[in-house]
Amino acid sequence: MMEKSFVMMKPDAVQRRIMGKILTRFEEKGLQVVAAKLLKIDEDLAKEHYGEHSEKPFFNDLVSYITSSPSFAMVIKGDDAISLIRKIVGATNPKEADLGTIRGDFAMDMGRNIIHASDSPASAEREISLFFNEDEICEYKIAD
Ligand code: CMP
Repeated sequence: MMEKSFVMMKPDAVQRRIMGKILTRFEEKGLQVVAAKLLKIDEDLAKEHYGEHSEKPFFNDLVSYITSSPSFAMVIKGDDAISLIRKIVGATNPKEADLGTIRGDFAMDMGRNIIHASDSPASAEREISLFFNEDEICEYKIAD
């Protein structure tokens, strides 16, 4: 099924200047970027985005990290994009993520796991609307 996922390179990806390498993985797989922007997430947006983790012991660290420097937010579209992107991204803990995945190849630390990707259609819808207005999403045909 054609799906859109919310994908965000976190501050460590931007700081380490590996955004291009990461983006290439999605593009080369055949997925389509339909929205993208660099933004410095403020505290309110961070707390809303990570609301489900508000009771976790790492919540404050997570919010202060994600607001520390700009992130690169995207909407990526494709056939079964949500689960496919989770596969390309790898396990949440970079030490457990398979080599060949983004986290497996570029990260070592749970709190600095490089990238976020929606885990379900409901989260994708919620996260996309949190970060993008309808008119920032560009639907376009890829030539055959
Ligand atoms: P993400 O997929 O963006 O969603 C929630 C984030 O919380 C996760 O990536 C990690 O960066 C972070 N996280 C999850 N578990 C822990 C943990 N045990 N310690 C620190 N950070 C965590």
